[in-house]
Amino acid sequence: MKATLEWQIACGADEAIQDSPVDRTSLPKAEAPPRQAPAREAEPDIDSVAVARTAATAAVDLTALRAAMEAYEHCDLKRGAKQLVFSDGNANARVMIVGEAPGRDEDIEGRPFVGRAGQLLDLMFSHIGLFRTESDSEKALYIANVLPWRPPQNRDPKPEEMKMMLPFLERHVELAGPDLIVAMGNHACLALLGQRGITRLRGNWKMALGKPTLPMFHPAYLLRTPEAKRETWADLLSLKDRLRK
Ligand code: URA
Repeated sequence: MKATLEWQIACGADEAIQDSPVDRTSLPKAEAPPRQAPAREAEPDIDSVAVARTAATAAVDLTALRAAMEAYEHCDLKRGAKQLVFSDGNANARVMIVGEAPGRDEDIEGRPFVGRAGQLLDLMFSHIGLFRTESDSEKALYIANVLPWRPPQNRDPKPEEMKMMLPFLERHVELAGPDLIVAMGNHACLALLGQRGITRLRGNWKMALGKPTLPMFHPAYLLRTPEAKRETWADLLSLKDRLRK
């Protein structure tokens, strides 16, 4: 097994591409006559959302919340990811950005939005005087994602994954206490507002978790669709304006 793994690594395989492993060495099973299974008491189903909510509610600060998420075992994404991606920036910032999920670069670095989309995000917000590296809360950004683990091959988050991680996101927002939220892209809108359709939603302020929330195009979308940057500039100006109030 070890030699096989080393051979695969030598061939350049460095990440999981499916949620669960496939045993390609197993032989097809011969048809067996149906057997009566011995009666067994059903195992109680674990309510992974309730477990998440209890753990999240018990977290008294962001350090405790991070530890609670590290300890949460019910999301399969955890097993395929290199590490938890919790947040970046200044937790006292007036603006909190909520993205979708870590990609390859974020999975390696352990911080959200550090790849190409993240570089564009930094550039966009720098034009309205907001920075994740800023210590002054007026000019700072705080950044987290709906999912803290990278989905294999950057596939879309599954509804059940979003549902079970939502209590952690809700507590995250509660503990960070931003004045305003930016919901980056469809999945953030779905998690925070229960709505999808970013083309229609973007630029329209809504309330999410008791905070004014601005849906915006995801920077990964802007990399593919540069003409949408015009609307994004309008959204950034709307955010800047709101911060003055
Ligand atoms: N896209 C996201 O939504 N979040 C990240 O952290 C990186 C890319």
